[in-house]
Order: sequence, then C-alpha cells, then structure tokens
Amino acid sequence: VADAAAGQIRLRNITPEDYVLVIRVVDDWWGGRAMHAMLPKLFFVHFRDTSFVAEVNGDLVGFLVGFLSPALADEAYIHFVGVHPGYRKLGVGRELYEHFFDLARSAGRRRVRCVTSPVNKVSIAFHHSLGFQLAERTDDSSQVSIYQDYDGPGEDRVLLTKEL
Ligand SMILES: CC(C)(COP(=O)(O)OP(=O)(O)OC[C@H]1O[C@@H](n2cnc3c(N)ncnc32)[C@H](O)[C@@H]1OP(=O)(O)O)[C@@H](O)C(=O)NCCC(=O)NCCS
Repeated sequence: VADAAAGQIRLRNITPEDYVLVIRVVDDWWGGRAMHAMLPKLFFVHFRDTSFVAEVNGDLVGFLVGFLSPALADEAYIHFVGVHPGYRKLGVGRELYEHFFDLARSAGRRRVRCVTSPVNKVSIAFHHSLGFQLAERTDDSSQVSIYQDYDGPGEDRVLLTKEL
C-alpha cells in the first residue's frame, strides 16, 4: 500500500489547523519519545510559509517545520521533520527537505542547519544521506560528533550543516 501511495505524495504549506493532527501523532512517530513539548503551535502560525505537510489522499504522512533565520541572513533552519512509520524509506523525508532547500535557495540562503539528539541514529544517517556535515566537536566515546551541554546541562546535541 505504501509503495503504491509513494507516487501520490502531495506537499503543501502547513496551517494552524494542522497542529492538532501533528501533535496527536508526533510522540508515536518518534518511537514513544515525548517530543510534543518541543513543537508548540507557534510554529504552525508564524512559520507556515516555510513549513510543510506531506499527504497521501488527504492523510498526513509527513511534516517539516523550518524557517529562514531572522538573525543570520545566510542561513535557514529545520526544527522538526517526521514521517509516518508506514511511509518511511520511500523518499518522503528527502522530498520535504529538497522542497525546503529550494525555498531557502530562492530566498538567498546559502546554508541549512539542524540539531538532533545523539541517540537518534536514524536521524543522523538520514541527514548524512542528504549531504549534511557534522560540526567539529567530538566525544571520544562515540563515533558521532557531539556538542556537549548544547541545550543546557546534560542536553548534548549533534549539530548538522549543509551548504546549499
Ligand atoms: C528520519 C526520517 C524523517 C526519515 O524519513 P524517510 O522518509 O524515511 O527518509 P527518506 O526515505 O526520504 O530517506 C532519505 C535518505 O535517508 C536515509 N535513511 C532514511 N531512513 C534511514 C534509516 N532508518 N537508516 C539509515 N538511513 C536512512 C535513506 O537511506 C535515504 O538515502 P538515499 O535516498 O540516499 O537512499 C524518519 O525516519 C522519521 O520520521 N523518524 C522519526 C522522527 C525523527 O527522528 N526525525 C528527525 C529528527 S528531528
């Protein structure tokens, strides 16, 4: 079913009305991690020009929340991306990212950044496939470059950058 549907994926800008749909599934899509607090409604209101949902037959199968940095004129930032577990490895995530890259390029941005958790190996592999580089911070106990305490004490992160 998912294979057949892959060709029918439609992207559109996110709307405030999408918030309830996304927030209902987000923790499940992240394998039970409590993620919803990191995705307040403000993103669906103030960043809707640079955020998208992917749908198949009107059903939500993925979303991307990003923005053009207000402070850094060269940069764009992707805050969240999620794909329905039944529609993974079909190119939905790539399509969402490429749509965002095109938008960022058109707006004159030269770099896209995102931040992920060191435990999220799938996210790190996904970003690698899309051409992101890891920041030059290394924790010797790991193969992954980790920025320790990036989001506060004990909140280590992996920083990812892609030149457009
Ligand atoms: C990460 C995620 C968005 C990927 O979405 P997806 O639609 O399955 O990814 P795509 O099919 O577009 O894959 C794009 C590339 O990433 C790679 N990739 C995707 N899932 C992967 C996995 N589980 N392991 C290794 N590589 C993977 C693919 O190999 C692909 O590369 P290719 O095109 O060169 O073959 C999805 O797994 C997800 O929603 N995970 C839970 C939420 C999450 O962790 N989000 C990211 C942190 S904000």
